[in-house]
Amino acid sequence: MRERSLLDLDDLTSDEISYLMQRATAFHANPPGRDLLRGVTVVNLFFEPSTRTYTSFSIAEARVGADVVALPPGSSSLGKGETIEDTALTLAAMGVKVIVTRHPESGFPYRLADSFAGHVINAGDGSHAHPTQALLDLLTIWTEFGRLAGLKVALVGDVLHSRVARSNVIGLRRLGADVTLIGPPTLVPDAMAGDGVHVARDLDAILPQMDVVMLLRIQRERIAAAVLATLDDYGRSYQLDARRLGSLASHAIVMHPGPYNRGVELTDDVLGYGGWRYAQQVSHGVYVRMAVLDFLVNGRA
Ligand code: CP
Repeated sequence: MRERSLLDLDDLTSDEISYLMQRATAFHANPPGRDLLRGVTVVNLFFEPSTRTYTSFSIAEARVGADVVALPPGSSSLGKGETIEDTALTLAAMGVKVIVTRHPESGFPYRLADSFAGHVINAGDGSHAHPTQALLDLLTIWTEFGRLAGLKVALVGDVLHSRVARSNVIGLRRLGADVTLIGPPTLVPDAMAGDGVHVARDLDAILPQMDVVMLLRIQRERIAAAVLATLDDYGRSYQLDARRLGSLASHAIVMHPGPYNRGVELTDDVLGYGGWRYAQQVSHGVYVRMAVLDFLVNGRA
């Protein structure tokens, strides 16, 4: 039987998402010791730069007692023409049980999971999915409000190229939040609207109604030059600055998956805002990833 993987949030039921948030919270309050994944070998296979995801997976793996191998892309034989299938077979034959992978190609982790006799965790594939980022974002909102259901959540900016946004929309909807995607049509096409998911253009009109504002980076590496040229006045319409912070409800929080670009999607005023939750998001990332590793390898507690 194929082992369970986490490739996107639609691999999880709403009950499982809630379980993982509770498990992560429990790990935060009471560190579980290093026996949960004792004897389990994990390979971190990252083909794209990462600060937050790579480091927090590495910390999480150490905290649950896994044996961890980092395989830098330049060291993998995929560059010498080895297929994904043969790489998967090779790692499994060495006793590797979990592969955590990031890749610029949407779908790479799915191809790996099809061939690997173990668990694959998607740490970000192209513009497709970033499920553990979405889980830590959901946990940050849940920690703040004690629920997701009925909350109004805005995702602002480059939704089209954002794997974080795509996974968040799945998780937010599974848990009953009301989602508004805000940006210019080139970055937030009308077709992204759906059940409980609205598309809006006027950030100033939307902000006062929101409980959560999630800012997104402009993914310059994934945007065609012709589209980039149309974004010259992006800041005027969509940058969160002191004036716009002043229009938020007093309980509203602001989030960003990172890395954030000062002077583009936000000004330094945001970093001093009382409801800025970036540090909590990063901290939650370690506990969520511990919970995911434990859940995939050991099942529910
Ligand atoms: N949020 C996120 O995925 O950041 P990194 O690219 O630094 O991992």
